[in-house]
Amino acid sequence: MSPQPQAAVGAPLSRVDGVLKVTGRAEYAAEHDLKGVAHAVIVDASIGRGRIRSIDTRAAEKHAGVLRVIHHGNAPKLPYRDNAGSNNPAGRRLRVFQDDKVLFHGQPVAVVVATTLEAAQHGASLVKVRYDAEQPSTDITKAKPGEPTPYARGDAEAGLRSSAVRLDLKYELARNHHNPMEPHATVARWDGNKLTVWDKTQWVMGTHDEIAAVFDLPADAVRVINPFVGGGFGSGLRCWPHTIVAALAARVTRRPVKLVLSRKQMYFGTGFRPAYEYRLRLGSDRRGRLNAAIHDIDHETSSYETFFEAVLGTGQMMYSMPNVRQAYRQVPLDVNTPIWMRGPGFAPASFVIESAMDELATELGIDPIELRRRNEPAEDESTNEPFSTRRLSECYTVGAREFGWDRRNPKPRSTREGNLLIGLGMAAGAYDCGRYPGQARARLDADGTAVVEAATTDMGPGTYTSQTQVAADALGLTMRTVTFRLGDSEYPFTSPHGGSSTMASVGSAVVDACNKVRQQAIKLAVEDRESPLYGVNADDVVVRNGRLHDRNNTVRGETYKSLLARHDRSHLEANGSYEGPGSERSAYFAYSATFAEVSVDADLGLVRVRKMLGVYDAGRIISPKLADSQAIGGIVGGIGQALLEHTVTDHRDGRIVNSSLADYLVPVNADVPEIKAIYLDGEDNAGNLLGVKGLGEVVQVGVAAAIGNAVYNATGRRIRQLPITAEALL
Ligand code: MOS
Repeated sequence: MSPQPQAAVGAPLSRVDGVLKVTGRAEYAAEHDLKGVAHAVIVDASIGRGRIRSIDTRAAEKHAGVLRVIHHGNAPKLPYRDNAGSNNPAGRRLRVFQDDKVLFHGQPVAVVVATTLEAAQHGASLVKVRYDAEQPSTDITKAKPGEPTPYARGDAEAGLRSSAVRLDLKYELARNHHNPMEPHATVARWDGNKLTVWDKTQWVMGTHDEIAAVFDLPADAVRVINPFVGGGFGSGLRCWPHTIVAALAARVTRRPVKLVLSRKQMYFGTGFRPAYEYRLRLGSDRRGRLNAAIHDIDHETSSYETFFEAVLGTGQMMYSMPNVRQAYRQVPLDVNTPIWMRGPGFAPASFVIESAMDELATELGIDPIELRRRNEPAEDESTNEPFSTRRLSECYTVGAREFGWDRRNPKPRSTREGNLLIGLGMAAGAYDCGRYPGQARARLDADGTAVVEAATTDMGPGTYTSQTQVAADALGLTMRTVTFRLGDSEYPFTSPHGGSSTMASVGSAVVDACNKVRQQAIKLAVEDRESPLYGVNADDVVVRNGRLHDRNNTVRGETYKSLLARHDRSHLEANGSYEGPGSERSAYFAYSATFAEVSVDADLGLVRVRKMLGVYDAGRIISPKLADSQAIGGIVGGIGQALLEHTVTDHRDGRIVNSSLADYLVPVNADVPEIKAIYLDGEDNAGNLLGVKGLGEVVQVGVAAAIGNAVYNATGRRIRQLPITAEALL
């Protein structure tokens, strides 16, 4: 098979769905209109733990327009079949309206269904719930952790004792919420025993399987549709209780039902990045060669499910050292279950490790980049596997040059502009990009256009555009003549749209399907006496702009259109698949080096980020313009994690006190300075057809540490907590 010319891949194209989005024609879940749709509003538990003593629905039911109030006293029993898939963590998932228990503040205790949204909202305010309240446990520093997940190599205790330089550092990381612009929402419609839902999700297949399990429906009785997502960052990686509530409400009322979470409900109706307590002990020799690390890591989970994230990887593979011990414990609290959030596991771990590396560099009087270079591993020391590619050193070199690292005075508080203290910092990052099984279908029509389908999602990275690029090149068509469709559980199966996996996984399936279609066409041509390509070796035929030709003689060729017309074929079609990385043994990570310049008001402790640079080893870049929006978005997310984002719980009753975008701070334009992203040229051919690694997560990993290290360089103050607040710096 001759390699196809790459015309679309690598080009800085604008989003193919951009016009739909900016003109309001892209339809999000809550915007799906159905005739006769009823509106549902959830009544949230107003205690943090306990039992429902009684629910008085009389006033609500009398309110004009209210159709029904559903709660544990009148809801049908739901099967809740076991479902180990769908990203459900170990445990017993929350079963909506199945008993009188309250497990966390904000848990759905009833739903009011009405003919209008206003009637449902007012009806919900009229439902009187009485509780037997108990004291909830929501403070990670005061609760009993679960059993540790351990990891060890060498003898970390002995290694630490024998180290010439030792650090013992404790970090506290705040809980963060994703806060996508689009709220989570579900529209549910039953047609007899068949259920269709329009749902905000990052994984239509996972939501499909969960709904089928909860209602005990056969797979073909459920369809999940989700063509557009207004941001996710991980919040859509599982099916949350409100989706079940909407489907249940539609079944009980025999009407289609729309349920949209309020902004407030987004803080307990969906998951979050858990709060962490992280103690790191680090030992090195006087030249900065690491000898030992001991990680004691605790984070929140709910009382009913044990949430895991990949927080151990960074400490195992980032730097070379013989002795590592880790203990990772989940602390069950009376909260809802956390979920992955951008750079899951790696973003929290890298804040700790990269901040500690900066402390070690200071302690030793070594440049932080030089310290990292001295500990660069030759292989993944946790598995003894070679790295597929690891070009972190080049990231340092390029970053230092482009950022002007030589401007940095290593002595803190040495650069001032009036009352502002100026500091520079950097941090490394890695992310274990996913490669998951997936499928795609490609169809080339007689008019020379093509449609490619896969059940994946586009939460914002530009999947529509980037998959169209790879499909167009594999088919030899222009961008305009290829349509990529996604977000429907009836399309070919894909794994979750998360973990920076989509291009490697879905992209490989798309290329496979398109290659098969192209080869079908080539075979038709070279075996056809009437084709100008008759007798040409199939391996010598390439397709460009919809025209097949001999790569050695471009005059010799014909279009898909004439070929299909002559053969009286309405279309050619093929299914493609990607099985995952296979048996090849390599450690496959994307890398980043992030640089930050900050100013800190010497009197007020106010931190302003002035300039950020990210340098990425992320394999082949399919779409440079979309990559830039990923990098900018990831760095903005990292600025939030570093300086602003903090979900605050009132431990007296388990209430989240800043459940609004006015009180939960995210970066606004004024907080976002000049951001630049650079991608190392090249590709990583470990187990995917495209040479990509994945970019969406690694762009956030290390950002908070780079900012924290810059704050130290500016002020001489080490703040071992996130977010780094003005009051902590006073
Ligand atoms: Mo990302 S946390 O995998 O949506």
